[in-house]
Amino acid sequence: MTDTGFIGQNIDIAATLLKKGEAVAVPTETVYGLAANALNIKAVAKVFQIKQRPTFDPLIIHLPSFDKVNEYVEEIPDIFKTLADKFTPGPLTFLMKKKANIPDLVTSGSPYVAVRIPAHPVVKALLEKIDFPLAAPSANPFGYISPTTAQHVADQLGNKVFYILDGGPCDVGLESTIIGMNDAGEIEVLRKGGLSVEKIIEVVGEVIIRDTSTSNPDAPGMLTSHYAPKVPLVLGNIQALASQSDYQRTGIIAFNQFVPNIPHKHQIVLSPNSNYGDAAFHLFAGMRYLDSCDIDIIYAELVPEHDLGIAINDRLRRAAHC
Ligand code: TXA
Ligand code: MG
Repeated sequence: MTDTGFIGQNIDIAATLLKKGEAVAVPTETVYGLAANALNIKAVAKVFQIKQRPTFDPLIIHLPSFDKVNEYVEEIPDIFKTLADKFTPGPLTFLMKKKANIPDLVTSGSPYVAVRIPAHPVVKALLEKIDFPLAAPSANPFGYISPTTAQHVADQLGNKVFYILDGGPCDVGLESTIIGMNDAGEIEVLRKGGLSVEKIIEVVGEVIIRDTSTSNPDAPGMLTSHYAPKVPLVLGNIQALASQSDYQRTGIIAFNQFVPNIPHKHQIVLSPNSNYGDAAFHLFAGMRYLDSCDIDIIYAELVPEHDLGIAINDRLRRAAHC
């Protein structure tokens, strides 16, 4: 991690570029984001263009603290305040009715804006140095796996961004959990992510989980094919699938143990001691690594549906849809 070239650790350089209306890749505890001044339409447009992201897919805005939220949203439901006290800064994103100062481009025309308070110390320090929110989607080309290191960003967007602020590998490794409130006042989970649904339920009682995928979804993190590697990924019983395939040209994503006969260099064991946090941390980097191997197919198994296992399985299912 040096400060030469476009990957660096200089928060002032990042802040200066953002103030000038450039897009900068930034670390968060979930995944790396491609950030721009959310109040500057031209800067936001650069983010859509660099990612090749359709403008119907809105962006999350990032703020240094929940206290600032009322500058950009009309009303904060009390239950969101309770959740924010408990879980922010952190991997939880809130959908709330936006104020007019948030450009329609950021929300793709929706009256609701997604707001997140990231916990990563580098992006927190950066947000303290600027006086505007950062609109930041994950810093990957649209539809591909989210980056969890600065190098992942450089590998795919390197020639398109001026600066990649390096904050090391992302602790969580999965995108934030997105929640909204429906007209009946119920909490809806629009994307399962780095804060487990169970933890939210502990605070709010019941939630509604929106599992539907459409071509014009409320949260296109819900698009069926998303987070996908280029090598086809098939879900199932990895032992059985592997036994019928060419061992040398098969990749494996397993929860806690290797599959016999397949070279270990083609196997990602997400967490040998079955820890969901570790598994989440390794998932996207593992998919990326296997995508770079000379193999024909990736076989993956679902993990138990608990804790972050719910979000891990969600990403695996989307990755498998190709
Ligand atoms: O962890 C994260 O949330 C990361 C980091 C960088 O903060 N960001 C991220 O952004 O994952 P992105 O753009 O890759 O995914 C954001 C999801 C998209 O599925 C988008 O459709 C949804 O949030 N979203 C954003 N604004 C929304 C809005 N106003 N209404 C509904 N969905 C929204
Ligand atoms: Mg994304």
